[in-house]
Amino acid sequence: MTERQILVAANWKMNGTLETIRPLLQSVIQGVQGITTEVAICPPSIYIPELAVQLNGSDISLGAQNVSHLEAGAYTGEISASMLKDFGCQYVIVGHSERRALYAENDALVARKFIAVQAKGMTPILCVGELLQERESNNTEEVIARQLDAVIELAGIEAFKNAVVAYEPVWAIGTGKTATPEQAQEVHEFIRLRLARHDNETADNVRVLYGGSVKADNAEQLFKMADIDGGLIGGASLVAEDFLTICKAMR
Ligand code: PGA
Repeated sequence: MTERQILVAANWKMNGTLETIRPLLQSVIQGVQGITTEVAICPPSIYIPELAVQLNGSDISLGAQNVSHLEAGAYTGEISASMLKDFGCQYVIVGHSERRALYAENDALVARKFIAVQAKGMTPILCVGELLQERESNNTEEVIARQLDAVIELAGIEAFKNAVVAYEPVWAIGTGKTATPEQAQEVHEFIRLRLARHDNETADNVRVLYGGSVKADNAEQLFKMADIDGGLIGGASLVAEDFLTICKAMR
């Protein structure tokens, strides 16, 4: 089996002010020194230039939470992949469930964002996950398959050579209801199997993160599972001590 390096990515969502993010960032930069886990931070886009400066010289990667699928033009309020690239972003989250639910992003649009990110040499973090009623009606695999297939259809399995997948059950996001390590592992394995229908090696190498109420006290149990390669962390990434404990949770 391939050794996949753990990735812990912070998704700050729409939180913080310069006054709060500066000390948070300094604590994280100092706290992650010397660890083998890869750490990334995805701040609100307006703070990307600030983080680009602060993270310079650290091992922490910079990411964005969203991007336009279009290159340039009359699209008021949007931010392009080239702009994110300009400020040194390495990762861009696409298809977060909040974008899907609150901003009506569908699978086809998410796939186009995925391609736009890769076209500029950055790595998409593709979020997939089922709603509570979808899990309860035993449709989890069907939903995840549909979300993955939309990207495979447009970008090809090749595209997953430079991508990260994040499994985020919608019922676990910001609710304090984490999926059990076994529940998460089951879906992570399914994600790999779905990709393996097209290419085994790609399926084996792609990093699949878990997201949804990952906290300082459950990260290690989750990251121990065979197919879980780290986490996408919302709430707990806003508290330096909690986030650092998660970053240090080993396999
Ligand atoms: P949470 O968010 O850790 O606050 O549940 C995770 C996410 O939405 O990426």
